[in-house]
Amino acid sequence: MINVALPKGRLGEKIYDIFEKAGYECPSIKEPNRKLIFENEARGVRYFWVKPSDVSIYVERGAADLGVCGKDILAEYAPDVYELLDLKKGVCRMAVAAKKDFYDDGATTLKVATKFVRVAKAFYAGKGRDIDVIKLNGSIEIAPILGLSDVIVDIVETGKTLVENDLEVVETVFPISARLIANKASFKFKTKEIETLVESVSALLD
Ligand code: PRP
Repeated sequence: MINVALPKGRLGEKIYDIFEKAGYECPSIKEPNRKLIFENEARGVRYFWVKPSDVSIYVERGAADLGVCGKDILAEYAPDVYELLDLKKGVCRMAVAAKKDFYDDGATTLKVATKFVRVAKAFYAGKGRDIDVIKLNGSIEIAPILGLSDVIVDIVETGKTLVENDLEVVETVFPISARLIANKASFKFKTKEIETLVESVSALLD
């Protein structure tokens, strides 16, 4: 049995459809109920719906053999897992954004609001720029508008949230897409099953 942690929500549903096409179907997952664990014994697969930011925790600790999470989560939490495949879904980017008239003259410590503290610190450390990180949990775009921060480091998908709040991208930090990750021990002990799944899924991506 391969245990797969899927991110709850629209991205997870898209990913399940790929797994289904690849031969790892589990029809009960589409029934309208609030169950979180689904199993198809005949196909040897069990799916869990988990909060997207928790997927890597389940996989790192071996509660799931495989999982699907965004590159943003991998960069922020740096879980000790294998990254097996770029699933090319949930494409967006990590970016620095600010109010349209903002100019960083480098004279004072830059105030950066973000959910992604490690990402922000690493990015500015690479530039040798001193920052004061303000950790927020959502609606990050409000921070520069209210003067809480100079810039934000956040996910930009369509760019609509920025436009509607009079902000703009200053620079891209890195591109993001969904990745298939594996627990390291599972990969060792279930190598054949996992490799077969990876081949079937990757054949559907191009
Ligand atoms: C994410 C991100 C941006 C928005 C970007 O927010 O933090 O706010 O999506 O999407 P867009 O470029 O298509 O407008 P999310 O919906 O996850 O909510 P939260 O960060 O406020 O919790």
